[in-house]
Amino acid sequence: MESTTAAPHRCPWWIQWVLASPIRALIDGVRGVAATQVQPGMTVLDVGCGFGFLSLPMARRVGPGGRVLAVDVEPRVVDELRRRASRAGLADRIDARACDVRDLDLGDRSGAIDLVTVVHCLHEFDDPDGFLVRAASVLRPGGRLLLIEPPGHVTADEFTAQIERALRAGLKRIGHPAVDGRRLTALFERPATTG
Ligand SMILES: C[S@@+](CC[C@H](N)C(=O)[O-])C[C@H]1O[C@@H](n2cnc3c(N)ncnc32)[C@H](O)[C@@H]1O
Repeated sequence: MESTTAAPHRCPWWIQWVLASPIRALIDGVRGVAATQVQPGMTVLDVGCGFGFLSLPMARRVGPGGRVLAVDVEPRVVDELRRRASRAGLADRIDARACDVRDLDLGDRSGAIDLVTVVHCLHEFDDPDGFLVRAASVLRPGGRLLLIEPPGHVTADEFTAQIERALRAGLKRIGHPAVDGRRLTALFERPATTG
């Protein structure tokens, strides 16, 4: 019998040369929205980090007392992020790892993450439900998850389904930050107490 489950859309790794271009930095408000969630000293997990379009500015913002854990399934993009972090003098604040979100192991940082950013990548994950459960569990109580998806790849109905997944994972929706009027966005919080 033919499968009815569509394989997730995944961009080729080299598209990162476009996604991390200086032109995007000028026209894409995603960085500004992420910046509003980042404070000095925070520990941030940037999932599907690519070349670090968000990881690098967030590492500047967390300052010397903070940390950005940047994970991506594609080793070539993680290598390039490490190069960019070194060139920017941010290597000591960015812990970049090649791993699939299905195998995410944050060791003793699990349960202590202040912010998870999931930008333009949830639709690429094979198991978004499992990922959101894991993401909720690595957040400290009161920690936040910022989800942003591109309307070209994700329909409004699919985004609604993503939000429902996050709610089922135990996250509470606390906002929908505006990026550019079209972008699909949701901000969640891990409740301070469960039950
Ligand atoms: C469209 S890019 C977005 C990159 C970055 N967040 C940005 O906004 O520029 C999606 C990224 O998710 C990564 N990715 C896809 N599936 C993944 C998985 N299962 N685990 C970890 N990363 C994954 C891809 O390798 C790619 O770098």
